[in-house]
Amino acid sequence: MPTPMAVRVFILIPYLLLLLLQCLYTSAAEPIFYESFEEDWVGRWHPSNKEGYQGFWKRAKIEGHENYGLLVSEKARKYGIATILPEAVEFKDKPVILQYELRLQNGIECGGSYLKFLRAQKDGWTPDQLDNTAPYSIMFGPDKCGATNKVHFIFQHKNPKTGSYREHHLKFPPSPPNDKLSHVFTAFVYPNNTVSIFIDEIEKKTADLLSESFDPPVLPPKTIPDPEDKKPEDWDERVKIPDPEAVKPEDWDENAPYEIEDLDATKPVGWLDDEPEEIDDPDAIKPEDWDDDEDGEWEPPKVRNPKCEDGLGCGQWMRPKKKNPAYKGKWYAPMIDNPAYKGVWKARQIPNPEYFHMEKLNLEPVVALGIEIWTMQDGILFDNILITNDEKIASIYREQWKAKYDIEKEQQKKEEAEKAARENAFVRMQNKLFKFLYDMAELPSLAPQREMLLALIEIIEENQVAVLSVIGIIVVVALYFVFRLLLNRMKSKKSTFEGSLSKAKKEDISCDDDAEDSEGSEDKGKGKEKVFEENSLADEFVATRHRRPRRET
Ligand SMILES: *[C@@H]1O[C@H](CO)[C@@H](O)[C@H](O)[C@H]1NC(C)=O
Repeated sequence: MPTPMAVRVFILIPYLLLLLLQCLYTSAAEPIFYESFEEDWVGRWHPSNKEGYQGFWKRAKIEGHENYGLLVSEKARKYGIATILPEAVEFKDKPVILQYELRLQNGIECGGSYLKFLRAQKDGWTPDQLDNTAPYSIMFGPDKCGATNKVHFIFQHKNPKTGSYREHHLKFPPSPPNDKLSHVFTAFVYPNNTVSIFIDEIEKKTADLLSESFDPPVLPPKTIPDPEDKKPEDWDERVKIPDPEAVKPEDWDENAPYEIEDLDATKPVGWLDDEPEEIDDPDAIKPEDWDDDEDGEWEPPKVRNPKCEDGLGCGQWMRPKKKNPAYKGKWYAPMIDNPAYKGVWKARQIPNPEYFHMEKLNLEPVVALGIEIWTMQDGILFDNILITNDEKIASIYREQWKAKYDIEKEQQKKEEAEKAARENAFVRMQNKLFKFLYDMAELPSLAPQREMLLALIEIIEENQVAVLSVIGIIVVVALYFVFRLLLNRMKSKKSTFEGSLSKAKKEDISCDDDAEDSEGSEDKGKGKEKVFEENSLADEFVATRHRRPRRET
C-alpha cells in the first residue's frame, strides 16, 4: 500500500526539526576564539623575540589528565607569547565573555598569570614582538607578589577630548584561589558598562566600568583646582592660638625642680659611714709577667665590700628624693579660638580641560591575544582560552573545567587523608617516646636532677625539631645495644674456642665497635658522646625496670 503524501511529510518533520536545531546549535556553538592547546600551537602562537623574554613556552599535559595546556616551563623568567584573532572582538551591543582556565601546578609566590586582550598595535607589528608596552583593551587574571594577590581587571581607554590613553584599574579586586588546582576565570563585559568577574562559576565582583569602582574613574571631574592659584601670604589656617591676653601668674615658679630631697628621711641606725662600698680584691695577685714600667703600677681589681652585704649600707649616706609639691613646669598661655581663622585654603576651581562625558564606555576592538608575564615560579598552565558573545557557549566550556576540577579535588582529598594518617602515626610514636622519657626521669639515681630533667622534657615536647633529634638519638642508642649484643655473642663464642682473651685486646674490639657504631648517626662527633650518656642511662633504666616489680611485691 503506497504511503499517502501527508504521512510522508509527517515522518520527515522530526528530521527537519533536528536539522534545524543542529544548524542553530553549530552557529551558536562557534566562539570567536577558542584555544585548547590540544594541537601543536606552532604557527598559531608566537613566542616573543623581544630582548629579555627568554621564558620557554611548552605545550604540556596537565598533571593527572590527558589534555594539554600551555606551560610556563622555567622559573624566574619573562614570558611573552601572542596570537592574532581570526576576527576583531567588538564591544558594542553584545556581551563579550573572556574566559580561561589556569592551574598553578607548583603554586606561586611571585608572578603574573593574566591575559592581555590586545587592541590595534602600531603598523608592522607582529605577534613575536609582544612585550610589556603592547597596548591592550583589557588585562584580566591573577597576579601575585609579596602583599599583592589579586585578579586584575584593567582596561585602557582613550580620552576623546585629549586623545590620550589611560589605564583604569578595578578597585578592591577579588583574590585568586590559593591552591594547585585548575580554576576557571570568566569576565563578562556587558554592553551596559558592567563587568562581572567569576571564578569557578562563582560571582566575585560586579562593577560599573564608568564609575568610581575604577582607579582613576574613566569620566574626569568637571572642574579641577586652578594650578595657577596660590595661597595668600596672610591666610591664617590656625584653628586655635595661645591667648595673647593671658599672663603668667606671679607665683608660678618655672624653675622649681621636679624632685627634691626628702627631709623627713633619716639615716638608718647601723649605717657604716666609714666603710667604702668597694675594696681591693684581697685574693688578687699581681701577675708574674706584670712590668711596672710598661704596664703602669699594678692595682688589684675592686670587689664589693663584704661588710656592706651584712649591714644596712655603707659609704656616704644620701637622702632619698621625692616629688616636689611646688613643681609647676613651664607656663603656657591657654589656647583660644583664633579670631583670624579663615579655614583651610583651597585653590579656586576651574573647568577641567580634559573633561568629557559618555553614556557608553568605548573599549577598542581586541585584535590579538597575548600572555606577557614575569614569574619566579614555573608550572603555570593556561588552557581553554575562550572569547565569545554567547553566555551558553562559555558555560558549556566550563563543564569541561568542572569535570577536571572534580577529579583534582578527589585526588587532593585522597592525598590529605594519607597525610593525616601519616601525621597520626607520628603523634602516636611521639606519645610513646614521651612516656619513655618521663619513666626515665623517675630513675632513683636521677633524683637530684629530676626537676631539671622534667623541665627539659617539657621543652622538648613543645619543640618538633627537638622531638626529631631525640628520636634520632634513641635510634642510635638502640643500634648500639643491638651491636653490643652481637659482639658479646661473638666474644663468648671466641672464648669457648680460644679461652680467655687478654684485657687489652678486648678493649681494642670495643673501641672498634664504638667507631663503627657512630657511623650510623648523622652527626658523628655529637652522636658518639650522646651514645655514651644515653647508654649508661638506658642501662640503668633497663635495670630499674626489672628491679621495680620485685620491690613492689
Ligand atoms: C547589565 O546587563 C547584565 C546582563 O544583561 C545584567 O545582568 C545587569 O543587571 C545589567 N546591569 C545594570 C546595572 O543594568
